[in-house]
Amino acid sequence: MDGQTLRHVAIIMDGNGRWAGLRGLPRLAGHRQGAAAVQRVVSHCREAGLRYLTLFAFSTENWGRPALEVQGLMELLVRFLAEQEPELRGSSIELAAIGDLDRLPARARRPLDRAVASTRGATGMRLTLALSYGGHDEIVRASRRLAGLVAEGKLRPHDIDGAAFARALDTADTPPVDLLIRTGGERRLSNFLLWQAAYAELRFTDRLWPDFAPDDLDDAVAWFHDRRRTFGLVEAVG
Ligand code: IPE
Ligand code: IPE
Ligand code: MG
Repeated sequence: MDGQTLRHVAIIMDGNGRWAGLRGLPRLAGHRQGAAAVQRVVSHCREAGLRYLTLFAFSTENWGRPALEVQGLMELLVRFLAEQEPELRGSSIELAAIGDLDRLPARARRPLDRAVASTRGATGMRLTLALSYGGHDEIVRASRRLAGLVAEGKLRPHDIDGAAFARALDTADTPPVDLLIRTGGERRLSNFLLWQAAYAELRFTDRLWPDFAPDDLDDAVAWFHDRRRTFGLVEAVG
């Protein structure tokens, strides 16, 4: 294991509502600015040569927000996909999505599936959107999948190890998270990538997501490279 190579950055993009509130604007105005920040950060990561970027865009718990906010977020997703699909293709970015995607409305699900299909195999960077995503929900769905295989006689309980479990998760072919960033000042995971972030370096910043700039990402990456990652051992690994 190479501890210092930064392969996978995951971001909890928090603070859109507060960004809007500070300006006397509706929460959706903050989400709109948040979508613009996504575009900037994705381009920057691609240019910097990052391999895997995962963004927490909508949680299983976020379904409980007021219907108008949920609707507005879905519209923003539809617009983001329409605007970004050609950009992603042009930049060799492979789009992926994790979460309970069946809960997404068809008008968002269809363009999402299309963008995932049209960028499949691109080798520049993988951008994964966590949508209707919850770490608990993902682990429960993975357990159900494995139990199904056992019931069909395709898998023996004994063969369920960490690697088999990881393969049953939505992130099956994605390496573990190296650096997890949360904007917006809260210091919690809010049910994000509970399995995959087991040994992630955690970077919390007060910057609200719509204000998060490429420089902030560079700062986080520099901070990451100063960490000693020991993975439970005595010496730094990598
Ligand atoms: C994060 O910003 C975006 C989503 C959860 C969709 P918030 O909407 O949680 O913004 P705050 O935390 O209320 O400021
Ligand atoms: C986490 O932020 C979810 C996303 C960023 C999509 P929340 O604002 O929903 O989480 P809490 O309420 O602060 O835990
Ligand atoms: Mg929040």
